[in-house]
Amino acid sequence: AATVRYEAETSPATCDGTIDSNNAGFSGSGFCNTSNAVGAAAQFTVNAPSAGTVSLAIRYAHGATDTRSADIAVNGATIQAASAFPATGSWTTWSTKTVSIPVNAGNNTVRLAATTAAGLANIDYVEV
Ligand code: GCU
Repeated sequence: AATVRYEAETSPATCDGTIDSNNAGFSGSGFCNTSNAVGAAAQFTVNAPSAGTVSLAIRYAHGATDTRSADIAVNGATIQAASAFPATGSWTTWSTKTVSIPVNAGNNTVRLAATTAAGLANIDYVEV
């Protein structure tokens, strides 16, 4: 199936923080800059034509040098705990992290929740 992009700034996606546009190179009209707090999350609703395992690509930027890990949950179940989002070198350098996720047919909730006090890396979009 064709890849579908879900922007962090587009409802029903949610961002525990602000949608910013100060760091260039993002897709769409902005990116999610979560609050600097454990648990601060970016959440997406992604659609799958059928149940199974799909590849989730997460575009992000992390211009600091601290660790910005996230618990990645699908439909409420954590599928990767404290998954690392390595530094990208600058806040305008965007990288893609890809993980395999289990999905149901139809809509699925994908939640990235920060596990450190710095919050998440800046999150641009996910693609499934
Ligand atoms: C900088 C950057 C933000 C980023 C923040 C952070 O202020 O411009 O986009 O979110 O650092 O450390 O989280």
